[in-house]
Amino acid sequence: MNKVCRFRDEDELFRGAAELILELSAKAIDKKGSFIIALSGGKTPSSLYNLLAHMPFSKELKWKNIFVFWSDERCVPSDDEQNNSNLARKMLLNHVPIPAENIFPVQVQMSSEKAALQYEQMLKAFFKEELPVFDLILLGMGEDGHTASLFPGGEEIPSGILVSAVSKPGDKTKRITFTPEIINNSKHILILVTGNNKAGVLKNVLEGKSKNAFPVQLINPKHGKLLWYVDAVAAANLKSQN
Ligand code: 6PG
Repeated sequence: MNKVCRFRDEDELFRGAAELILELSAKAIDKKGSFIIALSGGKTPSSLYNLLAHMPFSKELKWKNIFVFWSDERCVPSDDEQNNSNLARKMLLNHVPIPAENIFPVQVQMSSEKAALQYEQMLKAFFKEELPVFDLILLGMGEDGHTASLFPGGEEIPSGILVSAVSKPGDKTKRITFTPEIINNSKHILILVTGNNKAGVLKNVLEGKSKNAFPVQLINPKHGKLLWYVDAVAAANLKSQN
């Protein structure tokens, strides 16, 4: 099930996303004692992370039952501004009572190939499953229609691989990324898209003739729900009924 939710502006969108995370985490923790989320990088989610770090969300979220992973990471030092876990720690995780052992950053001190393998092995051990099922995977979308670190013209990823070492074409920084295989196994996938610079690609992705022109179109949950949270400027070119 795919659903596009439009919001008047970023503030309303991020509040909606925070409320969704609160709702999903309460249900998951009530049912199985844990809420397992993969965070995304880039600039878009930083306002969401900041919101979650403050009342009422910081108080209402049951941090000791929440387990945090990343859907992609840049292979730069963990204190680098470009490091996705560094952003999440600065904006959120350093400000809430989440146990350190509930946070699973990518081991960027390793080579990207080793870090991807280690992350995949760690996920399988954590979930005690060959194909982990996240409660929620957060994603963004670039102006070229990439998501996580799945880029147009990027490396072919063999099937069966859940976490892959990749590079962004034209950028020497290696990355590791969740593959569509693990993303599409999630119970919920939330893609956040804001800003008029994304309006063109969003229309092509959601309403274009081709359904496999952009990496983000590989995101199709097998059993779960895909939610697009978009603000009015990013949705400006969409048909009204979408
Ligand atoms: C990353 C992200 C990436 C991001 C998009 C959108 O590590 O770069 O995971 O997929 O979500 O590039 O980035 P912005 O939110 O900065 O537009």
